[in-house]
Amino acid sequence: MKTLESTPLSTLLPLLFLLPSFTLSQSLTDDSKCGCYLSKSSNDTLFFSQHRFFDFRSLSQYAGVPPAIQDSATSSSAEVTSPYFKSSPFTDFWMPGSWNNSNGVREDATITMINSPNNVYIEADSSSSSDEKNKPTFLTLRTQRMQTFQTSAEIESTSSKFQYLSMRMLARTLGSPGAITAMFTYRDSAQLSKVQESDLEIRTSDPQNVIHYTNQPSYTDEGEVLPQATKNATMPGGLKWTDWAVHRLDWTPKYTAWFVNDVPVAQTEFQVPRDVSNIILNAWSDGGKWTGNMSLLDAAYLQVQWFEIVYNSTEEIKGGKAKAKSSTDGQGGCQSVCSVDGTSQVGKPVMLWDNGVGRTNGGLDNRLNDRERNQ
Ligand SMILES: *[C@@H]1O[C@H](CO)[C@@H](O)[C@H](O)[C@H]1NC(C)=O
Ligand SMILES: *[C@@H]1O[C@H](CO)[C@@H](O)[C@H](O)[C@H]1NC(C)=O
Ligand SMILES: *[C@@H]1O[C@H](CO)[C@@H](O)[C@H](O)[C@H]1NC(C)=O
Ligand SMILES: *[C@@H]1O[C@H](CO)[C@@H](O)[C@H](O)[C@H]1NC(C)=O
Ligand SMILES: *[C@@H]1O[C@H](CO)[C@@H](O)[C@H](O)[C@H]1NC(C)=O
Repeated sequence: MKTLESTPLSTLLPLLFLLPSFTLSQSLTDDSKCGCYLSKSSNDTLFFSQHRFFDFRSLSQYAGVPPAIQDSATSSSAEVTSPYFKSSPFTDFWMPGSWNNSNGVREDATITMINSPNNVYIEADSSSSSDEKNKPTFLTLRTQRMQTFQTSAEIESTSSKFQYLSMRMLARTLGSPGAITAMFTYRDSAQLSKVQESDLEIRTSDPQNVIHYTNQPSYTDEGEVLPQATKNATMPGGLKWTDWAVHRLDWTPKYTAWFVNDVPVAQTEFQVPRDVSNIILNAWSDGGKWTGNMSLLDAAYLQVQWFEIVYNSTEEIKGGKAKAKSSTDGQGGCQSVCSVDGTSQVGKPVMLWDNGVGRTNGGLDNRLNDRERNQ
């Protein structure tokens, strides 16, 4: 078999993705050795400069389900539910939401919704037969209908400057009808038409194989629905959203694409977010048309075993087209190209190729050309 070193990469690159995994170059590495991350989206190959992985699977020392807070007045100021949420790595990236909908964020809301850090917790998998200390764990975001309000959960990125990404979570949604669970990008604006947002949403009142993908806004100020904004998809392979599955959202300069367990499920070029944005996971309801109402004391949960993201393009984006940065700009290029796909250990990147020390710090195209010239 030819090695990476002796084969022009431009011919090898498409081949890499025909293989079930990167069998040609599979060595596990760590982020400190990665200059950038290559990821194959539905239509093209993307390069990202950053990678983060949050593993909630072995945190039994933090596990515990806190009772929901009954009092609306103290709900949003509640303490975080364990030291995990007060320390790095969590706080480097995430913060629990504590806002409420009294500002009339959604006009058709029929109940006060309050986000509480108390609804964000690490939970032990009670179905596991292991003893308490060894039970697998996951992150839970809870929303529950209380007497006078809907208590809800959200974690939001501390940075609002993500631009292009591929984010994935091994997650499931459980619970009663009347709630939404979601993973999305968000850029706020006082003007509805200027909101930029790419959503993956599960409505717990839907059939358990239906999932909604939307580039907001999905309606106008006049209340007119924009049907092109939403793709109502079916979970592939007979899966339900109550099953554990890897939900993935790719935000690229040209399109957004969604996958379940690596199967492409939807893609759209309509209203693709353009500017730097936040990322958010949540579980909520406001008794409006989209969420529906939850019955008193009913609850729903977004549960997440891990969350992974590669983000920020290493490429220059001009007129919506990605273009490798030139070799003369002295930055942005990447010597060592890693991937978080096709790894044998989720969360840990594999090294695809490393141009070694002393190379021009060029963009991918330049490097490929260099390689070809050197054959
Ligand atoms: C993605 O690929 C499909 C199938 O080849 C094509 O129809 C679609 O136009 C492409 N979309 C983009 C944004 O390139
Ligand atoms: C809702 O948010 C507003 C504005 O931040 C705040 O003044 C109010 O106290 C909050 N209400 C509750 C019940 O938390
Ligand atoms: C992404 O890149 C932009 C532009 O270089 C930068 O301002 C921003 O801080 C980066 N975002 C994150 C989350 O690091
Ligand atoms: C998607 O599903 C929602 C909720 O069931 C429905 O209101 C909407 O009309 C559907 N949109 C499209 C484009 O099919
Ligand atoms: C939710 O319940 C309220 C009454 O509490 C009602 O006004 C509203 O129409 C209900 N919403 C839905 C979507 O059924």
